[in-house]
Order: sequence, then C-alpha cells, then structure tokens
Amino acid sequence: MSDLLSPASLESARDAALAAFAAAGSLDALAAARTAHVGDRSLVAQARKAIGGLPGPEKAEAGKRVNVVAQAVSAALEARRVELEVERDERVLVEEAVDVTVLPPRPVGARHPLTTVSDRVADVFVAMGWEVAEGPEVEHEWFNFDALNFGGDHPAREMQDTLFVEPAGSGLVLRTHTSPVQVRSLLTRELPVYVVCPGRVYRADALDATHSPVFAQVEGLCVDEGITMAHLRGTLDHLATAMFGEGITTRIRPNYFPFTEPSAELDLQCFRCRGASAEPGGEPCRVCSSEGWIEWGGCGMVNPAVLRACGVDPERYSGFAFGMGLDRTLMFRHGITDIRDFYEGDQRFTLALGQEA
Ligand code: DAH
Repeated sequence: MSDLLSPASLESARDAALAAFAAAGSLDALAAARTAHVGDRSLVAQARKAIGGLPGPEKAEAGKRVNVVAQAVSAALEARRVELEVERDERVLVEEAVDVTVLPPRPVGARHPLTTVSDRVADVFVAMGWEVAEGPEVEHEWFNFDALNFGGDHPAREMQDTLFVEPAGSGLVLRTHTSPVQVRSLLTRELPVYVVCPGRVYRADALDATHSPVFAQVEGLCVDEGITMAHLRGTLDHLATAMFGEGITTRIRPNYFPFTEPSAELDLQCFRCRGASAEPGGEPCRVCSSEGWIEWGGCGMVNPAVLRACGVDPERYSGFAFGMGLDRTLMFRHGITDIRDFYEGDQRFTLALGQEA
C-alpha cells in the first residue's frame, strides 16, 4: 500500500490543511493555503491518484479514507472562507463608512451686520405696534424731494450730491434717504400711520473710510391726532435704551430739514462713557471723542407742507419723523473705523459682527 494512503499519512495531511486554513488571516492567504492543500499537487490529490495503483480489493477501503479526509478538508476550507468573508465585510463597512453628520468643508455664512441691526431696530418698533414699510431704491424725484418740501433749487438736487438715473430728465434718482418712504406710507395707508422704514440709500460720495456712495438708514414716521414733540422725545429715548442699554438717552439740537418743522439734530448719549468723559476730570472716551454725545441722525415734527402733499389735513393731524444712519450706529458700537468693511463682503467681518450687531 502506498504510504500516501496510510491512515496516519492521510490524517497528517488533513491536520496540516486544517492548521493552514486556521492560520490564514485573509482571503488571499486562504486561497494560497487552498492551492497547497486541495490543489492538484496536494497530498490529498496525490493520494486520490494513488488509489488507481492499488489492487482491486483495497481500492474501496482506501477511497473511503481519502474521501473522509477530503470532505473534512473542504468543509474546513469552506468554514474558514465564510469566517474571513464576514470579517472582511465588517471591516469594509467600518473603513468605508461615510459620516453624514460631518459638515461639508463649506464656509458657514452669517447674516450681514446691517441686516441684523436693522431687524433689531424694526423689532423695537413692531413691539410698540408700528409697522415696517419699504420703498424702492430707484425713486422718483417727486417722492425723494418735491413731496418732502425740497425747493427746486435745494443743493441736494445737484449732480454732486445725488445720483440721477439716465436718461437725463427721467425724473428718477437713487434715493438719497429713506424719507420718501414717509410719503409713500402716507399715500397708501389709512391714518393714523406708525411706520419704521429701514433701507439702503445712495449719495454721490467718493468711497473712503468714512464715506460710501451706498449706506443704510432707518426712518421713522408717526402721524396721528395730538402728536407732539414729547412723543418724539419719548420714542427716541426708548429706541436708545432698547439698542444701547438702560439709561441711555438722546438729545436734540435745532437744525433745518425741509420736511420737518421744527427740525432737530439727534444725538445719542455715549453708551460707553455715558457722558462722563465730557465732565471736568473725566476719563477720555474713544467712542465719543470725549464729547459725551454721538451724532445719530435727524428728526422733527412733520412739516404741514408734507402732510398736505400727501392729502393729510394738518389741522387735524400732526406727526413726528426721524432718520438715522445704521452704518454709523454700528461703527460706533463696534469701534469700526472703515465704512468700506460693510460693503466689501469679507466673510470674516460678517461672521465677527453678524450675530451681535
Ligand atoms: N433724511 C435725512 C437725511 O438723510 C434724515 C432725517 C432728518 C430724517 C430729519 C427724518 C427727519 O425723518 O425728520 O439726512
């Protein structure tokens, strides 16, 4: 009998195959072990071939022994293959997993600080029952000037101050202030009117650190029966407190605007030093240049000429109006020295200021 076919030799061939399969750490290693222990040149294959050389009566017995070993080997091979495939599938799931919660490498935006501050102002007024009104940025001269009582020769109508829309004589300008929204509101709304109007305005100014041909204003208008300057003062003080903190007040000084009479310059008490820097011996203040007050905008009692232009009876109704620069408000608040930062779209600026404006 060929030694290959002895029970001991077959068992050792089987044990070697089982050990090799168990030791295979990957499907590739298993494939190599398979070639060595199941392939044409393996001991088991050779034993099978050797059966042919046996005398007839021994063939059946030897064939049975080889088959038992061959089945054990192929069963072990299959079991190990299944094990290794499961391991591989689990590893691939981990290695190729996509974490859908990871944020894409896209810069996160923020609301523009001017949007935030104009919303904050609007909120203060909406809380008092006022409405938000808007008007077009390309405005007719009648709304921007005439109805607001600007005379035909007022300097604001000159080319060097106002951006006119071509062709010459179109009657259209880029609005120079938000005050035309006063006129539009009075013409389209039922009285009484309480509106706050934030928006972009344009002037023929060259761009530098403190001037921009485009900037932001907010306008306020109230027209009702029995409105006095006391209402104006109270409203502005409330706005100052809501925006800059408890105790911050406003001050008005005589001035001239065609659409209000009387008219006043509006100052905000410095929210940093609260006026202390202007007192004798006070610490100097960077925010107000030790003035104690910051120029904030203009205001006044609505000129009866404006009411008449809008079809409102000045004998029955009176009102107040105010307007202030939003860029300016933010510049003071955050110590911004260059107005261009608002309009250059640098995300670092928007992100730094957007939420706290
Ligand atoms: N429209 C003025 C400007 O742009 C600001 C202003 C002044 C608005 C007085 C008003 C006001 O409503 O009453 O300079």
